[in-house]
Amino acid sequence: MLVSSKYLINKAYHEHFAIGAFNIGETIFAKNVVAVAEELNAPVILQIYPLEYELMTSDAISYILRLAMKATVPVAVHLDHGRGMDDVTRAIRDQMNSVMIDASGMEFDANMNTTKAVVDMAHRVGVAVEAELGSIGDRHQTDATNMGRVYTEPASAKKFVDHTGVDFLAVSIGTVHGPYPSGANEIRIDILQELNATLQLPLVLHGGSNNPDAKIKEAIQNGIAKVNISTDIKMPYYHAIHDAVEQMPNDYEPWIITKQADKAQRQVIAEKIKLFGSDGKAPLYFTNNNELTETFH
Ligand code: 13P
Repeated sequence: MLVSSKYLINKAYHEHFAIGAFNIGETIFAKNVVAVAEELNAPVILQIYPLEYELMTSDAISYILRLAMKATVPVAVHLDHGRGMDDVTRAIRDQMNSVMIDASGMEFDANMNTTKAVVDMAHRVGVAVEAELGSIGDRHQTDATNMGRVYTEPASAKKFVDHTGVDFLAVSIGTVHGPYPSGANEIRIDILQELNATLQLPLVLHGGSNNPDAKIKEAIQNGIAKVNISTDIKMPYYHAIHDAVEQMPNDYEPWIITKQADKAQRQVIAEKIKLFGSDGKAPLYFTNNNELTETFH
């Protein structure tokens, strides 16, 4: 069932688990995420990054929405890292029910004003909004030690949240997007605790791949209610294809390669859902008559 991300994430926040938000960008990945979520009875978010969104047709988006609607578990479809109003309006016109506006590269006031404009528009049509304050690093940054990380500062975050009315906030607490040497990131639980105490709002962890499981669990106990995962579910898929092609016999069956890649990806999706504690949580969202339970405002 297609369910509001606000409803999914707020409930997770109050019950101290997190929703896995998996970057799909391929219809086959969306199919794998929903299949595993159904197997584990877990609520889940399918999210699409703008550069991958540009490669997708509107038919592909319709397919993903149909998957979400027909799923036996609650699913939201979310735009990840929207670059501005154009990305956000495309997503809303495509019927995605959740968006992120990422104006974190701008100065504080400009980020706040851009985010507020998106919130005002999206809330009018019932779409929840995530924004980012501070900066989650990435490996392309020239500063190899810090990788461009700017930690989110609690007092500014409070001003930002109060002014914009954003539904959840992506915070920078030490993770980095994408593949990077293991151990290069360091989740600052102390900063997270201060943010959580100050904001009392569901927080989002970007750069969810390549982190120690224990740290992710600790983050979830301290306000993280949505964990973004891209690299960790994509790499096993591509590696499985690579290995299968390397070992390909002369009489190979092409569908076996896809099957192996699906299996490798589904295994990681299952591990992540269990790590986030969202397995078995789908019934929390439904009454016995399969209707939604109360919604959060
Ligand atoms: P990873 O590639 O580190 O999982 O990051 C994903 C992400 O944060 C998408 O917004």
